Formats: sequence, structure tokens, C-alpha cells
Amino acid sequence: MRLEWQIDFPVRPDLLSLMQLAADRTADAEGLIRPCSASVRLCGENDIRLLNARHRNLDRETDVLSFPTVRWPEGSTAGTAPDYLRSAYDPEEGSCFLGDIVISVPRVIEQARAYGHSESREAAYLLVHALCHLMGYDHMEEEEKKKMRGQEEKILSSIAMGRDPSVSVEDDTLLALAREAMTRSYSPYSHYPVGAALHCTDGRIFQGCNIENAAFGLTNCAERTALFKAVSEGAREFDVIAIASKATAPWPCGACRQALSEFAPDIRILVTWGDRETDESTLDKLLPHQFDIGNQE
Ligand code: THU
Repeated sequence: MRLEWQIDFPVRPDLLSLMQLAADRTADAEGLIRPCSASVRLCGENDIRLLNARHRNLDRETDVLSFPTVRWPEGSTAGTAPDYLRSAYDPEEGSCFLGDIVISVPRVIEQARAYGHSESREAAYLLVHALCHLMGYDHMEEEEKKKMRGQEEKILSSIAMGRDPSVSVEDDTLLALAREAMTRSYSPYSHYPVGAALHCTDGRIFQGCNIENAAFGLTNCAERTALFKAVSEGAREFDVIAIASKATAPWPCGACRQALSEFAPDIRILVTWGDRETDESTLDKLLPHQFDIGNQE
């Protein structure tokens, strides 16, 4: 699913990646037979209030608004009404434009705090909810509400963002986020892009890419970019890291093994390369006898 972003309010970049993944899973879950797109505007309280007043005559803030382009027939959704989906096809874009979504970023933050879950989960939930509306789901009547909630839960649990906190993140999700992070690699010297996605035990996911420099020794590997982002945001406990590259299995270099072992000596390591080949190991196998200065107290 192609999302056309309009970002009018600052937002953590990892939320954008997760929302993109949630949108892709929404398309998968619906079984969409054509490439689809939607516009997503992220804004502040005032902007969403104005839009709510203009389009729904409700002069108050809200968390999310959705404006479908297609009027789906009663009881059908995008996956079950292919002719209607075709009517949204834009030949210039090469995709079916499902409509516009507006999300209030301050509301994402507020609601995550109020419900006691992560901002990632709240952002993914609001986007999936809005995309379901664009695809013809609704929650006015009990029966359709059940169907919509079921679909939302199916999508969110596939990226470990569902209601059941015991469902841990799927390896596939982390691998997809590592591949996606690879697209942001800055590697003009080696031409060897690497991406990483580091999963914290509290559910947060931090992505990283390799960042090179004209002074070659300053290069930062993808794994350490993800690790340093995570630690600097207060995360200390990690259970899985996924690493992606194009050509060969990107097992972490010695420096990254040592850096990871500081916080997670037993972390699982998933690697993916080429045409979705994968392998896995654990850090205690890859780095026996790590450097350790013992307890200094
Ligand atoms: N690289 C990583 O990102 N992770 C590793 O564990 C090893 C190497 C990057 C650094 C450099 O930008 C490129 O791969 C080629 O060495």
C-alpha cells in the first residue's frame, strides 16, 4: 500500500515505518488484488478540529478522520467488491486511490498514555482503523462493528500490536522492518546498504541503517545505529535484532557484537539477504568470551 504522507506535525520516524508496515498488512489481510494508495496527513489539534468542523459539522478535536473515495455497496468491502475497487484506479499513479486520512499526532501521544500502551500501537491502530473505513468497513451497527474490530485485530496482531500483549512480535515483522530500514542506508562509499530492527522487551522497535562518512573510519553500522537510538531513548532490554542486506548474510561485525553484548548478551539475531533468504543465531554463540570488566562497585 502506497502512503502519500503530509507531515504537518513532528513525529518519530519509527512510527512512520510502523504505520507503513501496518498499511501493507491491511492490504494483505483484505486480499486486495490491485496496488492501492491513500494519503495520510499527520497534524496538530487545531488542524484536525478545523477539518472536523468543516466536513462533519463538529467543532471539536478528534483523533482520526477518514474520507473514502469509493462508496462501497452495502455489506461489501474493498476485498469483496473488485469492480468498485477498479473504479478508484488512477492510471497516472498506477494504483487505486482509496482516500484521505488525517491523524492528530498530539492525540496519538495522549491516548497512548491514557490506555497505557505504546505510541506505536496507538498510531498503528488509528491508521488501520482509518484504512478499514476507506475500504468500506463501519461500526454503526453491531454486526458490522464486530466485523470491523475483527479485521483490525487480525491486522494488528500480525505486527504484534494487537490487544493481547503476550503475542510477541513476529520474526517476519522485524525482518520486514530491517529491510525497510535498509532503504534509508547512507552508503555511497561501500554501496553495501544494511538495515536493522531492534526489538525491546517493552514492545518498542528501533530501526537503524549504516551511515558512512568521507572519513571512512567514522562509519556507523546499522546495528549500532539502532542500538544507540534505543539506549538514548531509555530502552535497556532487548530480545531480538533483525539485520538486512542485499548480497550476503549480514551477520553483525565484531564491534556490533560487543556493543550488543553490553545490554543483551543472549539476544536472538535474525539475518535476511538476497531474495528473502533468512538465517538466525544468538549472540552468545556469535560472541563467546566477550570483553567484560566485571562488577566495578
Ligand atoms: N556494516 C553494517 O552496517 N553492519 C555490520 O555489522 C558490518 C558492516 C556496514 C558498514 C559499511 O557501511 C558497510 O556495511 C560495508 O562495510
